[in-house]
Parts: sequence; C-alpha cells; structure tokens
Amino acid sequence: MTLNPLPIASLFTHDPDRLATLRIDQSGMLFDWSKTHLDPARIASGIAQLNKAGLTDARARLFSGEAVNVTEGRAAEHIAERGEGAPDSNMRAARCHARMQAMVEAVDAGLLGDIRHILHVGIGGSALGPQLLVDALGRDAGHYEVAVVSNVDGSALAEAFRRCDPHHTLLIMASKTFTTIETLLNAHSVIEWMEEAGVEDPYGRVIAVTAAPQAALDWGVDESRILPFSETVGGRYSLWSAIGLPVALALGWEAFGALLDGAAEMDRHFRDTPSTRNVAVLAAIADRFYVEDMGCQTRAVFAYDERLRLLPPYLQQLEMESNGKRVTLDGQSLAGPSAPITWGGVGTDCQHAVFQLLHQGMILSPIEFVAVIEPGHDLDEAHHRQLLVNCFAQGSALMTGRASNDPARDYPGDRPSVTILLDRLDPRTLGALIAFYEHRTFVNAVWLGINPFDQFGVELGKQMAKAIERDGTAGLDPSTAALIERAGL
Ligand code: F6P
Repeated sequence: MTLNPLPIASLFTHDPDRLATLRIDQSGMLFDWSKTHLDPARIASGIAQLNKAGLTDARARLFSGEAVNVTEGRAAEHIAERGEGAPDSNMRAARCHARMQAMVEAVDAGLLGDIRHILHVGIGGSALGPQLLVDALGRDAGHYEVAVVSNVDGSALAEAFRRCDPHHTLLIMASKTFTTIETLLNAHSVIEWMEEAGVEDPYGRVIAVTAAPQAALDWGVDESRILPFSETVGGRYSLWSAIGLPVALALGWEAFGALLDGAAEMDRHFRDTPSTRNVAVLAAIADRFYVEDMGCQTRAVFAYDERLRLLPPYLQQLEMESNGKRVTLDGQSLAGPSAPITWGGVGTDCQHAVFQLLHQGMILSPIEFVAVIEPGHDLDEAHHRQLLVNCFAQGSALMTGRASNDPARDYPGDRPSVTILLDRLDPRTLGALIAFYEHRTFVNAVWLGINPFDQFGVELGKQMAKAIERDGTAGLDPSTAALIERAGL
C-alpha cells in the first residue's frame, strides 16, 4: 500500500474551503467526500485523466443512444427509461411503460383474479432491483405481499410457497433473455404448485417481463400478459423498465413514476454539471485513486438504515458485473486493476462484526456510509438518533484514529470514508441514488477504457453446467468429476 503523505484529518487545516469543495447537495442527498484523500489537486488531475479518456464524448454517446456496448453491438438505454435518452428511445420506453401501467391497473381491478401475493421469479438484474426497492420502500405499502425468488435452490421457492396462497398468487417471470435456467425452472415449479392446489388456469396468472417476447410466448404466456422492454436495457440497469413491475404493483404507479423522475434528475445532473461539482465524476475519481494509487482491492458500502440493507448486494452486481473486466474496448489487456470488490452490510450490525479489520487491520478499504435523516418508523426517536450517531462516529474514528502506548489499543486512523446522507428515503430520492451509482460505474469504465455493458465472464460456467448435464463427467477435470461422482449426480 502506498502511504499518502498528507493524512486526511490534516487536509482540513491546509484548506479552509475543504467542506465547501467536497460536499455537494444533490437530489435530496448530501454527498460528502471530505473524509477522503481527495483535494483540489487530486480532483484536477482526475478530471484531466477523464478528459484524456474522452468522458465528454463517451457520455454524449451514451445519452444519444449510440452503440456504446461495442462487444454486443448495441446501445445502453436505461437512461431512455427515465425519458432522458434519444427521442425515439424515450418514446419506445414510454410505450412500454404505458403497457406496464395498464397491467398494474388490470391487476388492481382484479382482472387476473383476487391477487394478494406477487411471486416475482428472476435472477441477477431481473431480481436485485425489484427486491431492493420493495424492501426499501414497500414495507408499509400494503398493496400486495411480494416475494422475490432468484435461487434455483428449491429451498428459496419452498420458503416463498409458505408465504403465498396459490389461489391468490400472481407469478411474474422476469428474464431479459427468457433463457435463464434458474428462472425457467422456478417458474415451472410455481405452475406445478398452482396446479397441485387446484388453481383452474395457472397460466392465466402469469405475467412475463422480457426483451424476448417470442420466447415467453413459446413458453406458454399469453401475448396480452407479456410486458416487453428494449434489448438495449442491460439486466443490471433494468429496474426502470417493466422489470420494476412488482415495485409498481407494491408501491403504486405514482411511486414508480417518482422513482423514474428522481433518476432523470440525476441523469441531467450527470449530463450537465461541470466535473468539479458532478457527484458521479467525483465519486469515480475517488474510486480510481484508492484502487490505483493506494492499492485498495475492495470498497465497502454500509447502509446505516435497515430499509437499505439490500443496497450492497445490488451494488455488487452493478459494479462488479459492469467493471470487473480485463480488456479495453479495443481488446488490449488492462495494465492495472479494474473494479475492486464491492462488499458491505448494514449498520449498526457491521460495527459489531467487520469493523475491527477496518479500524486496525492491515488492508485499506475505502468505505461508503449511506444514511437517512428521517427515520422509517414511529418508534422512540432514540433508535434513529443512536443509528445516526453511530454512523457519524465511525467515520470520524476511522479518519482521526487515536494513538495509544498500548499497540493493541492504537488506532492508526487516516482511513477514508464517504458519507451519502439522504433527507428521506422516498421513491424519488432512491431513484436518484441508484442512477448516481449507475453513472459513477460508467465514469469508472470510461477512465479504464472498458465496456461496462457486457458480462461475458458469466458465460463459461453456464456452458460447462450445460455440458455436464449433457455429457456427464466426460472430458471434465479430475477434481470436478470426483465431486460429481461423490454427489451422485
Ligand atoms: O448471468 C448473468 C446475467 O446474464 C445477468 O447479467 C442478468 O441480470 C441475469 O443473468 C439474468 O438474466 P435474464 O434477465 O436474461 O434472465
């Protein structure tokens, strides 16, 4: 690890404007980089690096719907889902949203039966976004009970079956490609579960959300219940599309609209704000500084709010599937590290589990605290006060440390953290927060010169699983063959 010559705490005395430079209010959130090693010189050199890497041009190409996903020859148009993309793409997305809204109204009106439970089956980007949003915002919504099942492990589905009544359950099959084995198998088992319970027309209770409508039709879903979205919306960027259907059902259409509006506001901020005040750009400059100059291989996100407990796993897919790459856009090997490992948890639990290493361990991991000023409950205000006090105390302790003559009790300090403080957790603010993470991921990719929109790394394992199903252990390495034999497959 390269040690930084100037400790973070000392930067406040060197620069009286530090707070003004490194804190930005945007979309109901305060972004605070003052407890990191960023300073005006580092920001300037990061901006120069990004200019050299062609950020302005790359961003313009993203927003105008050009084929920025070069390895798959298509655009990346999650921004159009928020109405901020190319005009034609915005219109296409709006048409899909109109169909989605009509579906929400049909379900609410009881046209698909007396629905009380939503069983959303999907995996990766087809599950993590809806799961995060329903968990964060749908706790008191009361419209429907939503269960999201992703894992092919039958224990996951069995748990959902215990929570749902087959006679009052709507199945949402969410799969961009409609080829994902986990999702198809889980959906098949849901149909069987309904059949066994005597549901008259289980297929009449299925809505498919996909960019491959023909495959959904072939699977047996009626055309009137297929909600399409564009092929140009990537899986981990898809919660804004019809993939967000359980969110719109659980929270209502107005709330879903507010989510899109919040994201659109962040899109405009990212597109129009100079780099020195642009939250996605500053975040990416800090990200690359800690990876490249300080040798950090991980970055930790701690949500000091139970409602955001699924934010770390959501960000793991967004950041690691997007930027965990090893070649540049023109196929050259990267000279240095790409994305660090994203990990994290929920505060205050994390303090009593992993913070020992963060305060005194021998590796450095930049930390991000995400907290909300307004509590999400009506309990004694002492709860929320304690939560926020703990969050702020951790950031301060990590930065300032405390010297002791007893080596075991010595805190070296100078450990960086970013704080993102939301005024309140509502659909609009959460939409803006997630869009911020998307743009930050994009700026990291521009810096690295990589394509954040493909994910070929996940394919080999899938192909090998298929080969094992087809050929057994033939041609397999001895270790894996022995495991398969031992498991009796
Ligand atoms: O295996 C990775 C992946 O392709 C993700 O990128 C995607 O979000 C997930 O699988 C699910 O894919 P689909 O929506 O096509 O079922």
